Amino acid sequence: MTQVGIIGCGGISRFHYEGYEKAGARIVHVCDLRPEAARPVAERYGARWTSDYRVLLEDAEVQLVSVLTTSSTHREICQAAIAAGKGVICEKTLSDSPEASAEIARAAEAAEGFCATAYMKRFFPAAQQAKRLLADMGPIISLYARTWQPYAELWDETLGEWTKERPSAPVRAYGGGALVCGGSHIVDLIHWYAGRPTRVCGHTTTREGLDFDRATNALFWLPSGAACHFEAHWHPLRYAGYERNGWDERLEINTPAGRLDLYTVTWNQPERNPALLVHQEAESGRVTEYRYPAINPFHVEMAEMVRRFEAGEPPEPSAWDGYVVDQLIATIMESARRGEAVTLRWADLG
Ligand SMILES: NC(=O)c1ccc[n+]([C@@H]2O[C@H](COP(=O)([O-])OP(=O)(O)OC[C@H]3O[C@@H](n4cnc5c(N)ncnc54)[C@H](O)[C@@H]3O)[C@@H](O)[C@H]2O)c1
Repeated sequence: MTQVGIIGCGGISRFHYEGYEKAGARIVHVCDLRPEAARPVAERYGARWTSDYRVLLEDAEVQLVSVLTTSSTHREICQAAIAAGKGVICEKTLSDSPEASAEIARAAEAAEGFCATAYMKRFFPAAQQAKRLLADMGPIISLYARTWQPYAELWDETLGEWTKERPSAPVRAYGGGALVCGGSHIVDLIHWYAGRPTRVCGHTTTREGLDFDRATNALFWLPSGAACHFEAHWHPLRYAGYERNGWDERLEINTPAGRLDLYTVTWNQPERNPALLVHQEAESGRVTEYRYPAINPFHVEMAEMVRRFEAGEPPEPSAWDGYVVDQLIATIMESARRGEAVTLRWADLG
């Protein structure tokens, strides 16, 4: 039975500890700077707790840690965990810069350690079925990928109080707005399905009074030679999308063999509706809808991570996958700043 430490007991943490619990792993040590966040989780599992992550990393019983702190702290904590010989599952984004993420990935490689980036949208059964189908569908000729999340208050005449602190809450906790928060997941799906883009043209918009992007668009040149249009928006359309609740996240992938449409669901209420995959075959026109039970992709993710850790298999998505996403995010922003497309060589990639 794998023995786990949880570092960071904020909003995302329940998805990890409940996932570990379901996967049969044992939570033995819990950490948060705020004792009031760490203590209840520790009590739930009969685990030790601390406000200093170094104390948790010194605990010989801990084999695998989830790093669930603010993104700007991931580099330091992941490096320390790798140096302590622990397996690591780090919430996305792997860090707040591609340089820091490459450092983490290199350290994990040198230590021959287990280091995963937790992009849970790969673990919707519909997303996994899309990956399986694509293997036999030939080269991608067009990809359209969007994450539109409802934030009507960012479009109201007066901005809410939560946007006024500097840095604002999303910048402090996640390092940015629409691109880093929702967009990072979709950038991960794009490179998982289509490979690493070779050229990027980015465009980003906000409004006065915000210190983060409200909408980011990009064009990716894909290894197949096709283009991918990507959109990450915090938008005002309250009822848009597959669930008619403003959550409007989907990918349309075209190959000569057909089309896949993948619709995901509201990230923190995945038990309400299942993600949906629609496959249209080019030759016959036959349409297959893949509908699965509405399961929580975090739970599938944690079960698969624990299985791989116990089997000595490398993690997926890996730290290098996390680096690829962070590099693409940085390149979109660089391109937007420069007003021109930027070429990527991926020379550093392990
Ligand atoms: N997969 C997803 O869909 C998803 C969704 C939300 C957040 N996240 C990611 O999860 C991570 C955490 O986000 P959150 O929403 O839970 O944030 P949060 O602010 O709710 O929680 C972060 C917690 O980490 C603690 N913390 C910060 N620095 C620490 C340190 N040095 N040592 C110990 N504890 C520390 C804070 O006290 C806080 O309780 C971020 O990287 C974020 O990008 C992912």
